[in-house]
Amino acid sequence: MSITVRAPAKINLHLGVGARRDDGFHPLVTVYQAVGLCDDVSVTPSPGWALGVTVPDWMDVDAIPVTGDNIVDRAARLLAQHHGIASQASVSIAKSIPVAGGMAGGSADAAAALVALDRLWQVDTSDDDLLRLAAELGSDVPFALVGGTALGTGRGELVEPVPDRATWWWVVVPSAQGLSTPSVYRRFDELSTDTPGEPTDARAVLLALSTGKPEILAGALHNDLESAALDLRPDLADLLELGEGVGALRGLVSGSGPTCVFLAEDADAARDVAARLSEHHDVVLVTNGPVAGTHVVTYA
Ligand code: C5P
Repeated sequence: MSITVRAPAKINLHLGVGARRDDGFHPLVTVYQAVGLCDDVSVTPSPGWALGVTVPDWMDVDAIPVTGDNIVDRAARLLAQHHGIASQASVSIAKSIPVAGGMAGGSADAAAALVALDRLWQVDTSDDDLLRLAAELGSDVPFALVGGTALGTGRGELVEPVPDRATWWWVVVPSAQGLSTPSVYRRFDELSTDTPGEPTDARAVLLALSTGKPEILAGALHNDLESAALDLRPDLADLLELGEGVGALRGLVSGSGPTCVFLAEDADAARDVAARLSEHHDVVLVTNGPVAGTHVVTYA
């Protein structure tokens, strides 16, 4: 038996961050959108546990830990523990989502592994339990399960779908050097000592989505972590300026960065912007959203 499950990357259209909570996390009001860059997780039966990863040639395979502390190892252990069974499978991750880039690639892998192993082990985990286990694994993991476009609250783990009927075109520029999420939040704390407890609301983005007009969404995109990411990686400001200079409606640091995303007018404009950015950057991807959350693609 072999099961392959696909999970999408995310972009935060709005990322409002409040003051650090006592548990070390920050309260968020965010609007997630799942986009068409996806990782596939394949599982087959095995008497033990094995995890492998394949990457496209533009990605550095050494950037991905596959020795016991990968989020997929943790997802498997958590699901097995929940059902009181042994964590046995041979697992292979085929990556397309930039690593350590602010697009929740690790979270997508965890979500895909939960769904794939649930099928392989035939343990029939309820949706509520899957979402709870996902939240234990990381703040973005529940959204990777749900997909589409959703409002995220709490530390990002409470997700509620929102209407989003348009197709939005994005150009994605990953960075060869990753940026650690905790270090970006730490810099956010250092830079903004008077942050209110309540994050900024997502009204402007939700309203923009309902118009279906890219130029309105472009004006509403918001990321409270952007200045922290730019402070750690000043070169990203040049990239944002370059993208906007070659026709993107708006450039934005994706989540905690360093991946930058550019909203384009339509598919043709996205391809034009990508072609211009490719003159300066090795890896430039075109994608769109919203797309489905974690789902089975092969079951044989
Ligand atoms: O939940 P996740 O494992 O993705 O979080 C990684 C790190 O990012 C946390 O350890 C924390 O430093 C930071 N974080 C945060 N507030 C959030 C989400 C993440 O401070 N809402």
